[in-house]
Amino acid sequence: MSGEIINNVDDVKLNEQKDNGIADDDDFVDPWNVVSKSETGVDYDKLIKKFGSSKIDEELLDRFEKVTGKKVHHFLRRGIVFSHRDMHSILNQYEAGKPFYLYTGRGPSSHSMHLGHLIPFMFCKWLQDVFDVPLVIQMTDDEKFLWKDLKMEEVQKMTKENIKDIIAIGFDVEKTFIFSNLTYLGQCPEFYQNMVKIQRSVTFNQVKGIFGFDDSTVIGKVAFPSVQATPALSTSFPHIFKGKKLPCLIPCAIDQDPYFRMTRDVAPRLGFQKPALLHSIFFPALQGAKTKMSASDPNTTIYLCDTAKQVKNKINKHAFSGGQNTVEEHRKLGGNCDVDISYQYLTFLLEDDDRLEQIRRDYTSGALLTGELKKILIETLTPIITQHQERKAKITDELITQFMTPRGLAFKF
Ligand code: TYM
Ligand code: TRP
Repeated sequence: MSGEIINNVDDVKLNEQKDNGIADDDDFVDPWNVVSKSETGVDYDKLIKKFGSSKIDEELLDRFEKVTGKKVHHFLRRGIVFSHRDMHSILNQYEAGKPFYLYTGRGPSSHSMHLGHLIPFMFCKWLQDVFDVPLVIQMTDDEKFLWKDLKMEEVQKMTKENIKDIIAIGFDVEKTFIFSNLTYLGQCPEFYQNMVKIQRSVTFNQVKGIFGFDDSTVIGKVAFPSVQATPALSTSFPHIFKGKKLPCLIPCAIDQDPYFRMTRDVAPRLGFQKPALLHSIFFPALQGAKTKMSASDPNTTIYLCDTAKQVKNKINKHAFSGGQNTVEEHRKLGGNCDVDISYQYLTFLLEDDDRLEQIRRDYTSGALLTGELKKILIETLTPIITQHQERKAKITDELITQFMTPRGLAFKF
């Protein structure tokens, strides 16, 4: 499938929520938009202060390694997963041999997922492997129906395609439950009952403040935050947790935090522990770190369904360069890795710390030219994408049904 024929519905329009979002002199971040005036992208330290989360520091990383006995993922080492809420209490829980579970999600707004969407899911897969815990994945097809001008059938088709992308990341069917809101809510009374409990605990005033809703917002949108909050209560999955209350850990990019600030406010009032969070930064658009990669424009985005040729062309044509205008100048002055998109992408995708450091040094000194850096990125990214496509092609309808069937997982509760 070519990037051009993807049905793009992820319009990034600066909407009426702007005044209510986390506006700042330079950056704007909410579940709909991410815009920074700086070429180096969002100031994430400032965002931590505004959102009131905690920076992931050396002490937490050391503890992570001590408790799990494993080297931490390069996303953690490199500050890609940079912020958290209550991660220490999850590690305490794990250390004491007590269970917890992972929850993440995806709003299917395009037929194919893009590289940015891969980040929280790749990280989630690593967490699941390290901790050996159940994972629930919410597909918010209802959200996309409410926010985008889409037909019900169209949303459901996108959901199925996105679920294939997610399964292709390698999740274990014995340990993972994937559900679509449009289907699961009608199958599970316990989920709906928790949702109504949450709805009774949050006022319009509160969601207005958090999400910027106003008098002309349709009521489906006003109620939606309760749908995204509900999976953080383990009793919403009776087939998995048998009615037990388990702590929940949510990996996501930081744009989703507003939902979970609300969830953390409500959970204790309903007798649950607040969900813990691990936040990632945004995978930047090809044009530069001022915006996140989003499905809205094929030229800013690398889709998981792009061909090797498209990947190469997009990087060569569109990836913002921190290099100088001429080879002579570049050799003399060197390139700027802080704004160079090819280098930024390598920090996400190249696992080898030593090689990455060598590339940084060579590009900064001018020994490595922009064209050569782009070539390294193309050689790193192409196999990731083609292997993903090969795995995706093998996924049968039967396997999708298996993942989506409410059932017990390979854990006893
Ligand atoms: P959605 O579909 O917009 O995004 C899915 C996940 O990908 C993250 N993400 C990114 N990460 C890095 N770089 C980017 N450029 C980028 N763009 C998106 C998002 O933060 C998210 O983690 N309402 C949600 C669906 C949802 C959800 C959840 C997400 C429901 N429950 C629980 C996380 C956790 C949505 O539309 O996500
Ligand atoms: N930012 C995501 C998107 O644009 C998800 C999203 C859209 C969203 N509308 C939302 C998240 C409303 C929460 C509430 O696709």
